[in-house]
Amino acid sequence: MKQYTVVIVGMGKRGMHHGAAFNANPRFKVTGICDIDQKRLDDAAGKLGNPKKSADARSLAKELKPDIFCFCTLPNLRLDFIKIGVQSGAKLIAFEKPVAMSSAEGLQIKQELEASGTKAVVSHQHRYGEHYKKVKEIVASGALGHVHTVYGTATGWAAHMLSHLLDYTCWFNDYADAEWAMAQAAGRGKLSDLHTSPDYIAGMVHFKNGVRGAYDCGAGAPDVLEVPYWWRKCRIGAQGSEGFAEVMTGGGWRAVTKTGGYQSGPGGMDYNYDMPPYVQQMADWLDDSKNVHPCCFANAYKGFEIMSALYRSAAEGGQVPLPLTTGADEIALLKAKVPDKKVLLTLTESAKEYPS
Ligand SMILES: NC(=O)c1ccc[n+]([C@@H]2O[C@H](COP(=O)([O-])OP(=O)(O)OC[C@H]3O[C@@H](n4cnc5c(N)ncnc54)[C@H](O)[C@@H]3O)[C@@H](O)[C@H]2O)c1
Repeated sequence: MKQYTVVIVGMGKRGMHHGAAFNANPRFKVTGICDIDQKRLDDAAGKLGNPKKSADARSLAKELKPDIFCFCTLPNLRLDFIKIGVQSGAKLIAFEKPVAMSSAEGLQIKQELEASGTKAVVSHQHRYGEHYKKVKEIVASGALGHVHTVYGTATGWAAHMLSHLLDYTCWFNDYADAEWAMAQAAGRGKLSDLHTSPDYIAGMVHFKNGVRGAYDCGAGAPDVLEVPYWWRKCRIGAQGSEGFAEVMTGGGWRAVTKTGGYQSGPGGMDYNYDMPPYVQQMADWLDDSKNVHPCCFANAYKGFEIMSALYRSAAEGGQVPLPLTTGADEIALLKAKVPDKKVLLTLTESAKEYPS
């Protein structure tokens, strides 16, 4: 079996998760790592088998010509690294959510990948949790009857969490195309964070298959009482004519169905559990193009477009039709339009994250 070489850029939290998962799997070998922070780079090298180190991603990728170019940088760095990955001749680019910080950048990324034919995956890896898989299994089994609604809530702000909420609800809805999105936004504090977004956004999405999506993300989102850890207070589910099923990122799953009654089970998001299958499926896709990775760019882009449309609606008002045909800088639009009023918190413990 071929062993795929990997270069990873960004040796922070997620870069190290990726590095450990790749090196633990004999199908991969991390041959190069990159960070502009020398100490992080040196510390990472010791833990990842002393691959080649560099502070310059372009020259490293050019020299090593990896099969997989992976970058785990903060969301302000996306398009340049996609171009570096494509130019290096990598067969697959693996990168972190969110896809981009504007629809203009997202469209350019899509064009780069399509023009080069490079495979790409985006890290929406929570889906490998047993509790996520159980909810998907129940939805797909037909036990909910006619599914009419999918929904996602998270107390963390949109640049961190909305991408996840959208991807998993789109998965529950078999990645049906969306027709329009509409939203409101509040709170300017996180518009100056590197994970840039409004403090709170709530919106509705209409999918072409008739399913309605409801999203509630950030300071005003509801509590998830079952989950103590603030970042994992996410509830993601589907409702149908005969029941509902939902996953709580840090608190298991539950369902009520016509024939099964009330059911529930454990589960908690765990990087160590979720990363191995996420990377294994990269090898599967590289081995055989028919084995498309479930976190493929095409799937992630659907959620990304919806996120951009929700932002546009919050900034400009009204329903935003999908797919988006032109690019815009939605964060700039939000900076111009989100009112300068204090965001109203649902949880008192959120005050430390939303101090403004
Ligand atoms: N999928 C998930 O569950 C999940 C969880 C947490 C974070 N994330 C996402 O992962 C991404 C990274 O987050 P993180 O927490 O690992 O960030 P981090 O700040 O811990 O790491 C980012 C690293 O990138 C390095 N870097 C910055 N500019 C660089 C450059 N030009 N060249 C090389 N290295 C550079 C930084 O020095 C830093 O070490 C973000 O987009 C975040 O939203 C995803």
